[in-house]
Amino acid sequence: MILAPIIATRALRKIYPGSKPGRSLFGGGLALPGAPGMTPRSPTDVVALEGLDLEVAAGEFFGLLGPNGAGKTTTLDILTTRTRPTSGTALIDGADVVRESVRVKQRIGVVPQRPNPDRSLTAIENLLFHAAYFGISKSVALTRARELLAMLGIATRETARVPELSGGQQQRLMIARALIHQPSVLFLDEPTVGLDPQARLALWEILRKLHAEGRTIVMTTHYMEEADRLCDRLAIVDHGRLLAIDTPANLKARAPGGTLLELTLDGDAGGCAGPAGHLPGVLRVETSRELLRVFARRGEEVIAQLIKIVDQAGRTVTNIHLAPPSLETLFISLTGRKLE
Ligand SMILES: Nc1ncnc2c1ncn2[C@@H]1O[C@H](COP(=O)(O)OP(=O)(O)OP(=O)(O)O)[C@@H](O)[C@H]1O
Ligand SMILES: [Mg+2]
Repeated sequence: MILAPIIATRALRKIYPGSKPGRSLFGGGLALPGAPGMTPRSPTDVVALEGLDLEVAAGEFFGLLGPNGAGKTTTLDILTTRTRPTSGTALIDGADVVRESVRVKQRIGVVPQRPNPDRSLTAIENLLFHAAYFGISKSVALTRARELLAMLGIATRETARVPELSGGQQQRLMIARALIHQPSVLFLDEPTVGLDPQARLALWEILRKLHAEGRTIVMTTHYMEEADRLCDRLAIVDHGRLLAIDTPANLKARAPGGTLLELTLDGDAGGCAGPAGHLPGVLRVETSRELLRVFARRGEEVIAQLIKIVDQAGRTVTNIHLAPPSLETLFISLTGRKLE
């Protein structure tokens, strides 16, 4: 349990009503009374969140990792007051997202899954309009907007209209907009989707900097590497349920099979499988033509013995690849599916 979490959800549940005639998606029909675990009301109803309990500490870089349809955007939409939960509660800095949505909005900045700047405005106008919405004086807003554009590396694009900005520049503008009212929590929904590798790395640097300044960041992603590199803690979600929550290192330590060693031989590896399987600490052995694949508790400790076995089988090792336990292997073990 986290002492005084800045974000706390309790049994958060979301059912999107099915396509019944006369039933509004965003109307009062959403406020169905419901206990966690109850069955959906109609066969066409979609249970997007199945009772989510989450706590995020102030200053944490927190990740929601899950495949398409896991419920990541739904979770963010509820936390950012865009969608009401069907049942359960969510607090941001002590404010209830449903009953105190105005207070919540002042404390959060949101970068949505699809950039949605006002396309008829310039970059800086987008920031100034947003600042005005929060009642920030024009002179303060102008100073802040320029600082943010500079910090995000798009100062030279200040007077460019949105359609003239690249996808990566628009994404940065969305981050600037989310920060103009100086929120304590920044939410980003899949911020690097669609960016080229260079733009992705640049965005990672920006997020690291914002985190280093003490901001709480909540980011969704389905890129394991991104979650692993950036986040202090991760929640792995699938089908609206929390499967695991921990630091990337602890999650990886839970991945089965330990280290994966892949030895490429100069010929068929079949004869090596038997002896390799008897080495202490070896959990699983697979061979495929000249590939000898070994899952071992401690990879480094068996390398020498594996090379010896290969040698005794009259073969030579031409390449060795060592892969540490990954979030991918953990995800496969939890869901039986690949993440990406
Ligand atoms: N407005 C809606 N109406 C009906 N069903 C919805 C709506 N929004 C989301 N869903 C459904 O809820 C489930 C969770 O969707 P959500 O968008 O939260 O997932 P996600 O993890 O963000 O996925 P992605 O990685 O594709 O963005 C999915 O089954 C989705 O089809
Ligand atoms: Mg989504």
